[in-house]
Formats: sequence, C-alpha cells, structure tokens
Amino acid sequence: MQEELENISARPIASADSLAQKFMFVQGQEASDDVVRELKANPGFGNAFADYMARATWTGQQWENPSVVPYGPISLDPAGSVLHYGQEIFEGLKAYRHEDGSVWTFRPTYNAARLNMSARRLAIPELPVEDFVASIVSVVRANERWVPSEMGTSLYLRPFTFASEAFLGVRAATKYEYMVVASPASAYFGDGVKAIDVWVDRTYHRAGPGGMGNVKTGGNYAASLLPKLVSHDAGFDEVLFLDAATNTNLDELGGMNVFVVYADGHVETPALSGNILPGATRSSILQLLRARGVDARETTISLQSVIDGVKSGDVAEMFACGTAAVVAPIGRLASDDFDVRLPGGDVVQSVYEELVGIQMGRVEDRFGWCYRIC
Ligand code: COI
Repeated sequence: MQEELENISARPIASADSLAQKFMFVQGQEASDDVVRELKANPGFGNAFADYMARATWTGQQWENPSVVPYGPISLDPAGSVLHYGQEIFEGLKAYRHEDGSVWTFRPTYNAARLNMSARRLAIPELPVEDFVASIVSVVRANERWVPSEMGTSLYLRPFTFASEAFLGVRAATKYEYMVVASPASAYFGDGVKAIDVWVDRTYHRAGPGGMGNVKTGGNYAASLLPKLVSHDAGFDEVLFLDAATNTNLDELGGMNVFVVYADGHVETPALSGNILPGATRSSILQLLRARGVDARETTISLQSVIDGVKSGDVAEMFACGTAAVVAPIGRLASDDFDVRLPGGDVVQSVYEELVGIQMGRVEDRFGWCYRIC
C-alpha cells in the first residue's frame, strides 16, 4: 500500500495551468475583503469556509459536470445511502502562501492515490489522479484570497466522496458526489508546536484486522469519538489506540500517526499493519529523518516498552503527526494503570521547522514535494 502511494506521488504532474481548465467556474456571491481578512487573521481549524467548492457527480459510468460552484448547503435525499451505511471517504491537504505571494500545495498526488485506495476499500468509484489535482488547483485558484500567509497557516482542503443514491438496500451505491471544500487554518492545537496530553484507550479500538483502519473513511473517526469525549472529560487532548488483535501495541491516535524518539537517536513509528492510516506527514517525516541519517524504523512498538522507556530515560520524545496538526509533541501519556510525563526534546521541533519550512517555501524542497497552484 505504502509503495503504491510513494510510486504514484513520485510521478510528474501536469502544470496547474493545464489542469485548471477541467473544472468549470460558476460565479457566486463572495465574502467581502474585510470578512476574509478577519477570518484569515485567526482562523483556528475548520471553522470558516471559503467562497467556492469543487464538485463532480458520478451517475453510474463516469465523473460528470466537474465544476467550481459557490460554497453552500447541498441537497441530499433522506434515503441517500451515505446517511445510512456510511459509504464515504475523504482526504486532507493544504495550500500554502510563499513569501513572494505564490500559492503551492504539498504532495497532492499522494492524497489522490490514497483517496483511490480508500475508494477501492469502500467500493466507491476512483477519481483519476489528474482530476483530483485539477479539483485542488481549481478550488484554490477560485479562493486564492482566502490563503493566509503567516508561518504555519494555510488553506486547509477537504476533498470527499460520498454515496448519494436514494436506496436503502445494503450494497454499493450507483450515484456519488465528489466535493472539495476549503477552510483557512492555523495551528490545529492552538499556537505552534504545543505539547498534548494523550490517553491510551484499552477498551475501544478505532479499527481491527481486515477492517478499514488503513483507509480514510468517516467511520474510523466516528469510532474514535466516544473514547475522545471520555478522555477529554478527564483532561486529555487525544486518544492513542492499541492494536485490536493483541491490545498491547501502538496503532495510532484518533486522527494522527505516532512517533517515538529514543535517547540513542533512533526513531520508531508503528509499521503499516493494515490498521494504520499511511499518513502523508508520516511518510514525509520518515523521509526527512532518513535524509538526515537518522535510523527511522517502521516496526511493532509495544505500549509496555514505551512506558518502561519513558521511566528509564530510553524514550526521549514522542509526537503525533498529521496534515492538520503537522506535529504535536506528547507531553503526557496515561491510562488506568500508568501516568508518565515526557520531558520533550529537539527532534519534534526540528521536524516541524523543516517540514513547515519546505511547505512555506522557506527551506529548500529537496524532495520535489511542492506543487505550484498560482
Ligand atoms: C488531517 O490531518 O488532515 C486529518 O484528516 C485529520 C483530522 C483533521 C481528521
């Protein structure tokens, strides 16, 4: 799975100018410059939505009517199958404004390839990679003034596909909608690189063997909400899930992958067992670390070894990562029978600076990850 994502994301992509023609632009009412300026000043995450969204419709044979239309409520039949059986997939990526005013995105074909892997698992029609990138180009160009410029800010892009056929039998639908909405974003957890407190859940799992844990579908996130609510009430920011088969090894957080940094310099992240989402940020961090000569391993990580390592000092840092959050150091790890604090260190900060530096055009893009939109 990872190999397919890396291979597809390494292929050259047509220029934004040539792809922009694929989606027809439908002009609508737009927010005033003052409103956009205010929303960009302190956007938080996922609160406000830009003027335009992209959409295309599948009516049984092909994706039709690719267009960029005014953002707004959509009409969906109450029997639309996504509402009943959750046949839905999504992606998350960002558009960044560089210092010269140009706008770029990061590894869009990785997300395109992953959307298609998710599509296959949920029996949803795939979207050609070029059409995915064209939708990103079109939606960002239409909302260009919504892209903020402060370091660490971006226009968050949320592509998603859902079953829209009005039918209550349990089978793959014959009609789907693909959409991309855009939302100005600053740090997911508040300012910059902020440590989070993480609860390790031993009761619930987000995914199990043969399930959907390795694809991006709403159901996995729905499964994480109750544990997250309970842990929030106890004062924790996020939940770390263990593998469903043995309940002993680290899987991932509700919406982020996890890394462990050891005092001897090597770094580990859970191997893609089939239950873990192959994050674009996870993949990029592994490549950044390996390019620095760090021994970055994808392996099985037992919870007990992490607890012992934190207590003995063998574990120096832990962090969570994802497109929305970028990286978040873990300051505390706890469950019913343990509670350990991590001192923190330099690795997570340096990873943040290098990755966001590349995305914002301030650090050389040695990997060819940035793609110019306008
Ligand atoms: C992302 O990091 O983009 C995600 O999709 C995680 C979360 C916001 C659901």
